[in-house]
Amino acid sequence: MGFTTRLRPLTVSLLLFSATAIQAEIPSPDSDESIAKGSELYMHFCTECHGKDGRALMDVISDATDLTDPDVYYNGSTREDIYRSISDGAGVGMPPWKTQLSDEQDIWHLVNFIRSLWTEEQRSAQ
Ligand code: HEC
Repeated sequence: MGFTTRLRPLTVSLLLFSATAIQAEIPSPDSDESIAKGSELYMHFCTECHGKDGRALMDVISDATDLTDPDVYYNGSTREDIYRSISDGAGVGMPPWKTQLSDEQDIWHLVNFIRSLWTEEQRSAQ
């Protein structure tokens, strides 16, 4: 009895801690701060194949997806689909990034940045 009572405050704070941690893993899609971080990561890791504007049209080597148009995505365009494509890679030419971007938050920032390239209508359709 005494043992359980002593443990309880710790359990409660652990629960609160993990609830906060889970919430923190998915930044809000409309957060300007998250989009800005995603943009920075994108400029660093992704332009080589998808181009600076995400259209994959200019100075691009591989057959990368035009990220500005969710209708042409091969692997789905929900937030979860995009997360998975970035984390695990996609098709033949899209490398998995989960090792280099080991902080899940960074992948969500990229998802948010990519969605910021779409029209309002395209965003609300997903
Ligand atoms: C080495 C070239 C290359 C790099 C670098 C690259 N991609 Fe890709 N990416 C591709 C190719 C090729 C595809 C198309 C995959 C397919 O055929 O399904 C793709 C597909 C995608 C998709 C899925 C779109 C769809 O068609 O469903 C997303 C999202 C994406 N890339 C985001 C990123 C992000 C974010 C980065 C940077 C972290 C990145 N890519 C870096 C080549 C690349």
